Amino acid sequence: MSSQGHGAVLGIETSCDETAAALLDGMGRVLAERLWSQTAEHAPYAGVVPEIAARAHLARLPGMIEAVLAEAGVAPSAVAATAGPGLIGGLIVGAHLGKGFALARRLPFYAINHLEAHALSARLPGVADEPPAFPYLTLLVSGGHCLLVETRGPGAHAVLGRTLDDAPGEAFDKVAKMLGLGWPGGPALERLAAGGDAERFALPRPMLGREGFDFSFSGLKTAVATILAGYPAGALPQRDAADLAAGFQARVAWTLADRARRAMRAANRCRVLVVSGGVAANRAVRSALAEAASGEGFTLAVPPPVLCTDNAVMVAWTAIERRRLGDPGADLGVPPRPRWAP
Ligand code: KG4
Ligand code: ZN
Repeated sequence: MSSQGHGAVLGIETSCDETAAALLDGMGRVLAERLWSQTAEHAPYAGVVPEIAARAHLARLPGMIEAVLAEAGVAPSAVAATAGPGLIGGLIVGAHLGKGFALARRLPFYAINHLEAHALSARLPGVADEPPAFPYLTLLVSGGHCLLVETRGPGAHAVLGRTLDDAPGEAFDKVAKMLGLGWPGGPALERLAAGGDAERFALPRPMLGREGFDFSFSGLKTAVATILAGYPAGALPQRDAADLAAGFQARVAWTLADRARRAMRAANRCRVLVVSGGVAANRAVRSALAEAASGEGFTLAVPPPVLCTDNAVMVAWTAIERRRLGDPGADLGVPPRPRWAP
């Protein structure tokens, strides 16, 4: 490993509604970190407003980078920023700030793919007893993404399946809204579901019996909407709301486990299933995936919630993985892009 490979890396994340900066040493240990979730800015609109997000990133990110550098007291030897996929305004803010910083200090710059960063986050020191060896399976389930990937190494990801419509977190948020819960709705829906009977309502099992590894959540969401339409406005009993929430959550957990199980059977070189993204915080989802993994002889690796949701640590870490393979970080010419396969 070159001595450069051991230097500290500044990571920047601005692809959605988390503004984040982190400085990691060459081994991947966090020297300083700042993370600001913009939830309160977007909550009045019950969803992320791209223009508000971009302005909020611009207002906060420079100060957060300064704070991270001051706290760590170590100069970075490279800069890494998420360049996609995500909301273009935020990507422009983060990637260009990172590029400007790298240019001014004559440092290598790494344009990071956000999906790759989620997939590699499970290899950060301390996340798993043993960092998962390549190749492994990654299931990414968040508000914006739903992907099943064979992670073979930095820059080497084979997408096995993706959602045909909504991401699971998006489906949680939309069903939570129908049930009159706040935004983001996933955690509130999970709390409501805790007292519910998942089998009371006949809800469909998405993609039941379908070949392949793709996902779909809109049929399930519509089934919930159809049941709710049968109640007069404002007359949904708490019991029924809880049963519907539990039924919806159980079907999401079932379909995630079903698709993951199929992928574990097909990807016979893999032994670990990594799960990342905000929906990985859901206990029903985790336990369905844990059961599926152990049934297939796989180990389940779920990073802690702060690393599952968007953060700058995984962005810096991805650059560290690339540096270890000798990637010099010559990405100043890589533009921010809203769509970018891992
Ligand atoms: O990864 P994340 O913080 O942001 C991106 O979408 O990139 O994921 C947020 C999503 C939201 O849709 C939220 O409702 C969902 O994850 N979520 C949950 C839970 N916690 C967060 N969904 C179900 N159950 C939860 N406990
Ligand atoms: Zn994400």
